[in-house]
Order: sequence, then structure tokens, then C-alpha cells
Amino acid sequence: MSIAYDSRRKIFTLTTHNTTYQMQVNELGHFVHLYYGRRIEGTTEYMHVPRDCGFSPNPYPLRLERSWSMDLLPQEYSGANAGDFRLSSLNMVTEEGIWGADLYYIRHEIRSGKYSVSGMPSAFDRAREAETLSVTLREKASGLEVELLYGIYEKQDVITRAVRMINNGEKEIYLKKAASACLDISFGNWDLIHFYGRHTMERQMERVPIINGIQTVSSRRGTSSHQHNPFVILCDKSATEEFGDCYGMMLVYSGNHRTDVEMDQSGSLRVVSGIHDEQFSWKLEPGESFDTPEMLMTFTHQGLAHLSQIYHRFLRKNICRSRFARERRPVLINNWEATYFDFDSEKILNIARQAKEAGVEMLVLDDGWFGRRNDDNSGLGDWFVNESKLPDGLEKLIAQINKMGLKFGLWVEPEMVNEDSELYRLHPDWAMKVPGREPAMSRNQLVLDLSRKDVGDWLFETLSDLLRQYHIEYIKWDMNRSLSDVYSRILPPDRQGEVSHRYVLGLYRLLDRLTAEFPDVLFEGCSGGGGRFDAAMLAYSPQIWCSDNTDAIERLSIQYGTSFGYPISSMGSHVSACPNHQTGRDVPLGTRGVVAMAGTFGYEMDLNRLTEDEKRQVREQIERFHEYYNLIQDGDYYRLECEEKNHYFTAWQFVSPDRSETLVSVVITRPRINRNSICLRLRGLDPEAGYVVERQEFFGCHVQADRIPMGDFQKTKQSYSGAVLMYGGYVLPQMSGNYPSVQIYLRKR
Ligand code: GLA
Repeated sequence: MSIAYDSRRKIFTLTTHNTTYQMQVNELGHFVHLYYGRRIEGTTEYMHVPRDCGFSPNPYPLRLERSWSMDLLPQEYSGANAGDFRLSSLNMVTEEGIWGADLYYIRHEIRSGKYSVSGMPSAFDRAREAETLSVTLREKASGLEVELLYGIYEKQDVITRAVRMINNGEKEIYLKKAASACLDISFGNWDLIHFYGRHTMERQMERVPIINGIQTVSSRRGTSSHQHNPFVILCDKSATEEFGDCYGMMLVYSGNHRTDVEMDQSGSLRVVSGIHDEQFSWKLEPGESFDTPEMLMTFTHQGLAHLSQIYHRFLRKNICRSRFARERRPVLINNWEATYFDFDSEKILNIARQAKEAGVEMLVLDDGWFGRRNDDNSGLGDWFVNESKLPDGLEKLIAQINKMGLKFGLWVEPEMVNEDSELYRLHPDWAMKVPGREPAMSRNQLVLDLSRKDVGDWLFETLSDLLRQYHIEYIKWDMNRSLSDVYSRILPPDRQGEVSHRYVLGLYRLLDRLTAEFPDVLFEGCSGGGGRFDAAMLAYSPQIWCSDNTDAIERLSIQYGTSFGYPISSMGSHVSACPNHQTGRDVPLGTRGVVAMAGTFGYEMDLNRLTEDEKRQVREQIERFHEYYNLIQDGDYYRLECEEKNHYFTAWQFVSPDRSETLVSVVITRPRINRNSICLRLRGLDPEAGYVVERQEFFGCHVQADRIPMGDFQKTKQSYSGAVLMYGGYVLPQMSGNYPSVQIYLRKR
């Protein structure tokens, strides 16, 4: 049993393989957080010593003792306006105008299996290995019941949380803030790691000290956003990739989110995370309930790499629903950067033909195939063939592509509409706008009001028709603007605060229906690259286009940041043409291949434009990717080095789960001459075993690869013990050139 309840002391203990999570109902009925961290036996009540503190009020029954304050007590779910001035998890207002929440334990239940969250993706439990603890608190003034849900995945060291609000009172309640989780950490010195960015530069890792006050990671863009990912790590100040205490908090949500980290007056931390409360309000009629999105929490004392590996495995196994998460996915070529809007069937077929020769397995037809879509000003919403570009229709094109032996995939952007479209002319009211205002435009498009059932139904029918009519094996689901002018024409004024969340629920409903109806279609998520790269979208699409920035050198930091939370198998990554279309940079084809192989791997260019030698290189890249496929997709991932820190090179490593194989990739971003050689300490190997360097391939070195001076140690077919490679290191020969790289493959003897 991973859940234990000590009824005498009213202590709940959740135990996973390496962690313990403890909470207690105190004498007054408050639900107190005791401990989350490395696995322990026994309890930690003693850590929370009663103390008086000026201006921290006492609960009424303790007004004379002055020993306890809600303002100091670590809690499982904090309420506003009831004596705790730190971050609240719940805020609401009743019909009578009573604000805040004063919460008391009323009951609990321990169940085998995992709870589910209504209307949103959450971790599943096919192996029937999870358990659920449900603890219900009651809000005193309103009768609202707050059910705190805990899912315990013992083997995986993951605890999930979500909250269900049930209006058991007799009057309406308006939720104003309803977080998914609150984590109080009373002691320690912590850093915050978060992932910020922008379009074409997503998920840049930043590690900052926690300051007195509140630090916020959030999005109010209607999506999880390029700017701030809904995932944070708190790690001990001394934590590294290999050692140290780390907590992870990852929201399974794709809309407005907010995570606040507060260091309070006494130096304790509180983290509260969930749906963003700005412009949020949810009306709960008597008898109605509301579920928050789920939070995936983990703790490890073994550093950041281990934390990432926990998430990688968990997302692959318990979040990604698609069968493709566990199956081999095709190497694809996408025509976007090859043609943009300027294509016809002949051009597409030429790209496909050359790609097939190189070993590519699927052609994806990107934006521009539909409506009167000849640039990005018109056509969104008109999901029928653009006959001026494809006069023979899609069916024939797909048949020709299939005949070549390639699968066919298609781009769509269902959530959007252009004013210049048949859909908009027919249903102008489907686009989100505030009455009496001109909407903010972005890429000259508007957002369809997916909070409306009729809009969702129409999209389901339209997309289903497309998928039924044509032999489409992959869909790239794009979303190319943020939500502004949020307003729904069919909701009453007191429900307008629900629109952003209802939009996300509408999106999930649509994706639920489509993925259930078409389980054999591989979905890839996208939002101007990685603007909606989150765990909830991974439930539907096991891969998400990581960034519109396809420059391999820029991708190093984007993929590095993304890897902290999300598996390599989820990162859409392609080799594109040079000079790169976003940055103008030239990077050797081999190095572009090495970087794209730290992802789903594919091409975003017209291979006809390559020289014969480059075409040969592409063929070899695809062969190599196939050989390394399992290692890359299912292996344990280690970030070895990062150029942001060493101003020299980035290196990463995959190790097969049985530790029998490893692949090391290194990209030199700033060659250093007359410096010591790079010595890479490998990770995750069996120290006792011997490993043979089976293959070592250099790319883009200005000295021909076979002329690079090497010591004996550096030659292929050499054998080393795992201990030597991990504690001594693997020394690279001197490499110089314009972004040279090397891939080293070792196998256990
Ligand atoms: C977004 C995507 C790109 C491409 C374009 C098409 O920006 O991220 O990959 O599909 O849209 O308009």
C-alpha cells in the first residue's frame, strides 16, 4: 500500500519508491502539510513547532494561546481571507458577497486505481498500479466541498494532484481562483528553475535564487505559451545534474496558467500552481462541480537528470495516449520551409520523390493546400482543397505519394479563421471578439470560439470528413495566435470569466473525439512551433513541433530546456536548409542531423536542391537514425554539457534502459584552439562492464575526419570500462571548424 492512514494522529503518509509525502489533520481540523521529500520512516510532526508571530493572526479557539497561525502553518490547500496572508490556492465569492475560503477536513477515502479529471487529460493507469487518496475539506461559510485528489504512482515516484470543487450549499458560488496544487516547503535553501522564451526561442532554462516575495511564471495568452512553460523545478542551491534535492511541478494544462513561488516572512516557501486567476471566474450552481487541471509532482535527491528521467518515463507511459507513443514513428519530410505557400502538385511530388530515395517515410503537406490560401491572410476555416494549386485534388496527390511508398500527412489549423474565408462569411459570430471593440489581429486571423459546442461539433464533422475521405496518416495540428478579446456570444455576463477555460475544455473535447475516432492517425501538436508544448497536449499528440526556429545551433538551447520536463520522443525536430531561414546561419549538414536526432527527426527542405554528396549524407543520416531509434526514443537521457555554461560546446547522451548501449552527441559551438581536450564524463553506464566504441563519426570538422589526429584512447574499436568512462571520462580529439560535431556509439562487450 502506498497510502497509509494513522487514525490516532490523523496522519496520511504517501510512499513511493524513493519519496515520502505526509500530511495531517490538526486538532482544529486544518489540513496541514508535514513533509515531502526523500523516503523516510516515521513522522515529521515535530518539525512544525508552534510559535507566536506578530501580525500573524490566530484561529479563534487559540486566540489566548497565540501559538498557531494559519499564516505560518504549512498547508495542503490554502484559502484566502481567513488569516493566511501568503498565496491562496482557493478564492471565491458567494451570492452574499463573502470572499475567501476557510477550509476544514471532513472525510477521506483511499481507493485503488487512479482518479480521473473531468474534461481534461490526466495521468492514466493502464497497469493498475496507482492508488488514490481523496481528502474532502469543507468551506465554512458557503458549504463548498473541496476534494483534494492525490494519485500515487509508487514505482514511478510520481504523485499527481487535482482538486474537485463541489457546491454542496444552497446558493451560487463564484470561484475566483482554484489552484491545482499548493506545496509548502518549510525549510531549506532553494533555487527556482523555469523555462521562458518567445516565438522561435522557446523553453530557455533559467535558474534563479528564490527571493523574498513572489516570483511568478504564467501565461494569459489562452495557451500554455512560448513565453512561460507550465513547469517549474525547485532545487536545492547545491543541486546539480547528478546530485541534490529537486522538486518538479508540471501542470497538465494548455491554457492560461500561473505558478507563484513565495518566500514568506519566515523564510519558508509556498508554491501555488494552476489556472491563471486573471479574468477567471467560474459560477457553481448548487450541486455543480468543477475540476482543476492535474499537477504532476515528483521529488528526487539525485539531481536534475534523474528528475527529468522520471518525467520522461511518466509522460511516455502515463500521459501520451496515442499508440504511436510506443510505436516506431516515420521519418518525415515537411514542405513548409521548402516551398512556403508557393507549391503545386508537381513541386510536392518532386520533393516526395527525392525524399523517398533518401529513405524518408512520410511526406507532410503543410499550410496552403486549402481554401484560397495563397498567403497567410486568407482561407483559414475553409478545409477544402485549394484547386488552383492542386487541380487534381488531394486524393490523386495522396495516391501518387502512397504509390511511391510514402505515407501522407496534412497540416491543419482548426482553431482559427480568417475574415477572408467562406467560414467567416457564413459564421462571423463564431470568431472571438468583444462587442463594440475592434479585435486585436495576429497573423491577420481570429480565434474560433471553441467554448461553443456548435463550433466544436462543426470542427469535428469537418475534420472527420477530411480524415474519412482521404488516406491521411498524420495530422499536424497548428495554432498560430494567442487569445485576445476573450468573449463568448452565447454565455451570460456572469459566465464570461469562464470563456478561456471553456475554450481549452472545448479543444480537449474535440481532440478526445478525433483521436478516439481515428486512433491510427499520428497527431503532431504545434503552435507557431512550441507555443503549446505541455503535458496535456502530449496526451493527444505524442510529438509536438518544438520550435519554428530550425537553426541547429539555436535548437541546442531550445531542446536542452525542453528536455528538463519533456521526453526526447516528444520533440519535433527537423534538418532544414542552409543558410537557415530564421537566422541566416550556416551549419554543416552532419551537425544539423546530429541535433535533429535529439528529437523525432525529419526534414524541412527540398532535397532536390542538395548536391549528390549531400544526398548521400542524408541517406546515411536516416540509416543512422533507424539504428539508434530505440536508444533515442526510449533511452535515458543525460545532459552532459551546455554551451550556455561553458561557452564552448553542448553534449548529451542516451543510455539504453539495460545499459548495454549508449550514444553520445557533441556539438562545438565555439572551437577553442590550444585548449585542453574535451573530456566527457559519461553517465548511466554499468561501472563494471566493458564498452567498445563501435562507431565514432565526425561532422563538419575543417580537417577531414579521417585526418583528425587521435591518441590511442580516441580510436574506434577500443574498449573501456564503464567506470573509466564515467569517472575518468572520454577524451575527444581536437575538433575545429564551423560548428563541428561528433556522434559516438558504444556497446557493452
Ligand atoms: C506555424 C508552424 C510552422 C508552419 C506554419 C505554417 O508557424 O509552426 O511549422 O506550419 O505555421 O503557416
